Amino acid sequence: MVPAMDLPMDLLGRGLRDLRISVTDRCNFRCRYCMPVEVFGPGHAFMPREELLTFEEIVTLVGTLVPLGIGKVRLTGGEPLLRRGLDDLVALLAAVEGVKDIAVTTNGVLLAHHAEALALAGLSRVTVSLDALDPEIFARMNGVGAKVERVLAGISAAQAFGLPVKVNAVIQRGVNEVEILPLARWAKSAGVDLRYIEYMDVGETNGWKLGEVVSGDEILSILAAEFPLVPRDPAYRGEVAVHWSHGDGAGEIGLIRSVTRPFCRDCQRLRLSADGKIFTCLFAVEGHDLRGILRSGMDSRVLAETVRSVWQARADRYSEERGRGGAPKAEMSYLGG
Ligand code: GTP
Ligand code: 5AD
Ligand code: SF4
Ligand code: SF4
Repeated sequence: MVPAMDLPMDLLGRGLRDLRISVTDRCNFRCRYCMPVEVFGPGHAFMPREELLTFEEIVTLVGTLVPLGIGKVRLTGGEPLLRRGLDDLVALLAAVEGVKDIAVTTNGVLLAHHAEALALAGLSRVTVSLDALDPEIFARMNGVGAKVERVLAGISAAQAFGLPVKVNAVIQRGVNEVEILPLARWAKSAGVDLRYIEYMDVGETNGWKLGEVVSGDEILSILAAEFPLVPRDPAYRGEVAVHWSHGDGAGEIGLIRSVTRPFCRDCQRLRLSADGKIFTCLFAVEGHDLRGILRSGMDSRVLAETVRSVWQARADRYSEERGRGGAPKAEMSYLGG
């Protein structure tokens, strides 16, 4: 156990707690707000296999970062269930001392096949992206015509194997704001924690416009017209979503308002891309390579000291500074949601 005084702090006094690991830059969806098909079409060059960190490399890295403060790990992509043997990675991570929470963020379409193996491997919980229940709106948004029933089946399977489920819904004006209430009704009956996300200007390919953002306040007023909602305190410091409980005590609803109410002040998240670069912000332009160090055979202390110095030099607060312009940002499907 490292004494608290040795835990790195960034330039804004934020510690390092939460590691989000992208295990692949590929996805079987082409959501317009993330991987528009015009950009990520058949000719798009994804990472070659040898570029990806191996499971052993990921586990070595996580073991090195636990003493720096990491206790929470989230596996993302792209679509993480496209990475073969993801349950093996979960089992390896679950065996790392100090890793207290392992979550996966998935589009859910392959979840029914994988839920049992993931649960047995020691996964703590699942977050599923689901932007609409209406089949046509859902098919249009995912860009590949995927069926909503498969995602719902994935959610049910995860629940059946004891995995708590959260659902993320990105709301875009003119696209799916009509789904706000249907999603809330469904989530309440299905027993999932539903969080609405304000559409963000991540990456450079989604053609983001402020006018397409449906603000959290607007979403809340639509919900409040049907549901009596009671605000609840954050579950932990730096929680991204702000929650309201249903008045009848059955479940809750969250808002992730990174556009209208940024939460950079408490941001304790580090992101690792599938090819082994760390990014200190979701909106970062560049990462810092760790794969070279991992593959050089250098002592793991070099790895730890590199991460420590990258973190200590961090001053990111993009969402609070939005609109300043600057160099092109990395894509979310690459650096991990
Ligand atoms: P838990 O509370 O551990 O379940 O995780 P979380 O609230 O971080 O949720 P999740 O990982 O599912 O993130 C939900 C969404 O919030 C992401 O998909 C992003 O859209 C947004 N988000 C998460 N982290 C950040 C961040 O660091 N910055 C910004 N701007 N948005 C974020
Ligand atoms: N704005 C907000 N959320 C986004 N996500 C992907 N792209 C965006 C965006 N532009 C969300 C997905 C998923 C998670 C990985 O990130 O819906 O829940
Ligand atoms: Fe794939 Fe998720 Fe991006 Fe959609 S939001 S394209 S499911 S990585
Ligand atoms: Fe953290 Fe960057 Fe998101 Fe702010 S914009 S909460 S610093 S990842």
